[in-house]
Amino acid sequence: MTKMMVNFQYKNDGEMYCEDVPLSSLTEKFGTPLYVYSSSSLKQNYLDLYEAYKEINPLICFSVKANSNIHILKKLVDLGSGLDIVSEGELYRALKAGCPPEKIVFAGVGKKTSEIEKALESNIKMFNVESYPELARINDIAKRMNTKAPVCLRVNPDVDPKTHRYITTGKKENKFGLDFELAIDIFKKSRTMDHIDLQGIHCHVGSQITEVSPFFKALEAVKGFLEQLASEGFEIPVFNFGGGIGITYKDERPQKPKEIAKQLLPCLKNLNVKEFIFEPGRYIAGNSGVLVTQVQYIKKSPPKTFVIVDSAMNDLLRPSLYQAYHHVVALKKHSQKLKADIVGPICESADAFTVEREIDLVEQNDHVVILSAGAYAFSMASNYNTRPRAAEVLVDGENYELIRRRETYEDLIAQEIIS
Ligand code: LLP
Repeated sequence: MTKMMVNFQYKNDGEMYCEDVPLSSLTEKFGTPLYVYSSSSLKQNYLDLYEAYKEINPLICFSVKANSNIHILKKLVDLGSGLDIVSEGELYRALKAGCPPEKIVFAGVGKKTSEIEKALESNIKMFNVESYPELARINDIAKRMNTKAPVCLRVNPDVDPKTHRYITTGKKENKFGLDFELAIDIFKKSRTMDHIDLQGIHCHVGSQITEVSPFFKALEAVKGFLEQLASEGFEIPVFNFGGGIGITYKDERPQKPKEIAKQLLPCLKNLNVKEFIFEPGRYIAGNSGVLVTQVQYIKKSPPKTFVIVDSAMNDLLRPSLYQAYHHVVALKKHSQKLKADIVGPICESADAFTVEREIDLVEQNDHVVILSAGAYAFSMASNYNTRPRAAEVLVDGENYELIRRRETYEDLIAQEIIS
């Protein structure tokens, strides 16, 4: 059942392990809720992507928003990864993780002046620009700083990525990118912007994409656009194809990077650009992590059974926010089943990980493991209900390291001014 999570498996003793470490030894030591990540998975997934596109010498920039733990970022940076950031906060993390600035790309629709200044000061590789006023602001700031800003313009090819509407980004009605007509206009206007070095185009159509066709359609559209740009005399050395590769949460059978690359490479090579950037987040981290939680109570209130656990929507928001499916299993294998809602202690009805789902039979104090929690999980956590955020552990073979300690109540009130 955990086929999609190769490094999280039950071993002969009937317990789930991360690589060679039993999850029960980690809960004993660090308590719950606990995020556990597999070093091998992170590495393998990064390499899968890199290898798939090796012949075009890709710069893989891991999307920091998917998992922002500095230790994990550093691990990927050490493998050669760059980083895709969307805020000054993520820039701060990226630099702390030791990412060479020339491998940092900065996206997002709302970059503030201070963020642009900091990024220019840090000499990042480039800005992915989403609107004309943003480009004009960058030009002004670069002028004031007596420098030239490297830029990719983000286009919106109006492609349906066939994913959840909340994580669709490349359709006309989304706030992201620019339609081609506007984009060409901006390219022309940029001729008079002496402090902008417009190097390329960026295109990210959505997340959790499980088929090749949306990528392919986007690429075809981009190809046409690049030809139009060439006819206007613009030389475009860089193409950033964003992220978006989907993973298995339930029974999706997403195409693997190698299969995707096989179909896209001929078109990519035809684009006549020199440099390719990719910004994967979920593919690298999603199935590299789990959230382990402990059953507090079983509440039978006919017609329902509620399994009340000690993690909640503040730890993992995806099920509440997107009705996203996360597979849940008992830490100690159990063949009997129970139909239940697994819910957290937060005072919201949306605080549920499963609703009327057949799950492994569990009892009070047992542990359950919520799978596919390596991406958009801890990074979207909050302190709602004044709940300290969980601890995070990284496993490597039979070794493990605490890579973020559990928050304390002191941490939680540290910013508040008590007079
Ligand atoms: N590049 C850009 C410009 C993006 O907006 C994103 C994700 C990525 C790269 C990385 O995409 P990935 O490879 O991870 O699909 N919180 C949502 C996902 C939001 C994705 C936002 N953008 C979730 O939990 O499903």
